[in-house]
Amino acid sequence: MATRQIFLFLCLCFVVFFVSADGRSAHDELMKYGFPIGLLPANVDSFTINSTSGVFSVRLGGSCRVTLPPDNYLATYSNKITGKIVENRIAELDGISVRAFFKWWGITGIRSNGENLVFEVGVVTAKYPSKNFDKSPLCEGTRSSS
Ligand SMILES: *[C@@H]1O[C@H](CO)[C@@H](O)[C@H](O)[C@H]1NC(C)=O
Repeated sequence: MATRQIFLFLCLCFVVFFVSADGRSAHDELMKYGFPIGLLPANVDSFTINSTSGVFSVRLGGSCRVTLPPDNYLATYSNKITGKIVENRIAELDGISVRAFFKWWGITGIRSNGENLVFEVGVVTAKYPSKNFDKSPLCEGTRSSS
């Protein structure tokens, strides 16, 4: 009797886990930590986060190239992005690069103060208004199914 209830309970937990791990929740999670959703493209496949440590992993439907506002920097997202997120701060970021000064630079961290985002590339930082990232960027070169 009790075993069956525990089994049922475990099944329900798995359902809840998989529902909460769908693509949209990655964007919800960004907002929860004080970041705009436009930091991630729309084609999120799966997402995991350890809410204790903040260590997260995002899988995209494929690697993705976008143009970032307002200076039209080219950026690429690997199909797997990892890092560590806490309130208003993403660290140990891996999987997002921007093109500047004829080179690709890995973005290592992002900070938010609500109004602005500060992107860190090693010790170099660049500040942009958060409102430029209100919408998820569309991956270029992928055909939208219409
Ligand atoms: C989550 O992070 C905490 C703290 O680092 C760690 O003790 C725990 O094992 C992690 N949980 C999972 C499921 O990885």
